[in-house]
Amino acid sequence: MLWSASHMMKKTQYVKDLKDKDTIASPFLIKFSATAMGKNGKPYMNLVFMDKSGEVEARLWEDVTQYIGQAVRDSFVWVEGRCQMYQGRRQVVIQRLQILREDEVALKDYVAENELDADHLYEQLLELVDSMQDPYYKALAVAVLKDDPEITDRVKRAPAARSIHHAYRTGLLEHVLSITKILDGLAKHYGKYLDRDLLFLGGFFHDIGKIWELSYDRLTEYTTEGQLIGHLVMGVELVDRKIRELEAETGKLPGKFPEDKKLLVKHLILAHHGRLEYGSPKEPLCLEALVVHMVDDLDSKMNAIGKFMEKDQTPGRWTGLNRNLERYFYKPDWVMELAGQSK
Ligand SMILES: [Fe+2]
Ligand SMILES: [Fe+2]
Repeated sequence: MLWSASHMMKKTQYVKDLKDKDTIASPFLIKFSATAMGKNGKPYMNLVFMDKSGEVEARLWEDVTQYIGQAVRDSFVWVEGRCQMYQGRRQVVIQRLQILREDEVALKDYVAENELDADHLYEQLLELVDSMQDPYYKALAVAVLKDDPEITDRVKRAPAARSIHHAYRTGLLEHVLSITKILDGLAKHYGKYLDRDLLFLGGFFHDIGKIWELSYDRLTEYTTEGQLIGHLVMGVELVDRKIRELEAETGKLPGKFPEDKKLLVKHLILAHHGRLEYGSPKEPLCLEALVVHMVDDLDSKMNAIGKFMEKDQTPGRWTGLNRNLERYFYKPDWVMELAGQSK
């Protein structure tokens, strides 16, 4: 054995630095693992390795059977192999694989990093809360976002999704703040047609259930509650509980929380996926619900397509196939420059 049990596997190679023909000898976290059958009738393994700098695809052609059930999602592995270009993308061809224990790696090297400053974003969110007028809506926003330390801690860390959009630490907060700022502009633009405070609660709460729907200490996974209940209903449950708590305490509300306001907040959460087939039990039935749904859709697509283009390595003006939206995107100059390609 090259290493002993007490030995930490030092991370010296990061995904973002891997280039064609590089020799690889480094630990990685497995993000995806599947076994497939080759044309020659022999099994091979498709993997995706990740660390804090990014992800890269990998193939294992030899001794596959000994790794099935071991080289699985969420496990750490020592990898020896080579990086090569395949269909315009980097791919690691694995020569040797060794499963590692969690105490053999430093977790922080594998959790995706980004430049988001969670504290700063959260301050901006609280400024928006402070600017609200309606005493009931505002008290509810304060109860959830200001007075509950568990929620604050989770909102600062949570991703907005397992994949697709804002799928990284603090992604949920980035998404929620971005949406609420857009909603602020739309409230001004459409004047009397829109209730700014109600819109804000739609922005703040539409995905708040995700802080418990997902677990995100390492790789993002769905929790049992997330699988069985889902973030729309979980958000409604939270609003229900917080309103009951507010009503039980004296001095927090000017009176009993108005029934119509309570129902509208819940409706905005339940309707934000827009259509029954996208998981909403109700379609948007008021302008605020419609606007929150459309802005949510816009913000998630902007993020998903933007990040997709940034990561694209396909030579030329067109990206590879985006499987979620089933199309190729035309790359603007800034993406070409990012990938080091001439225009
Ligand atoms: Fe959602
Ligand atoms: Fe959302």
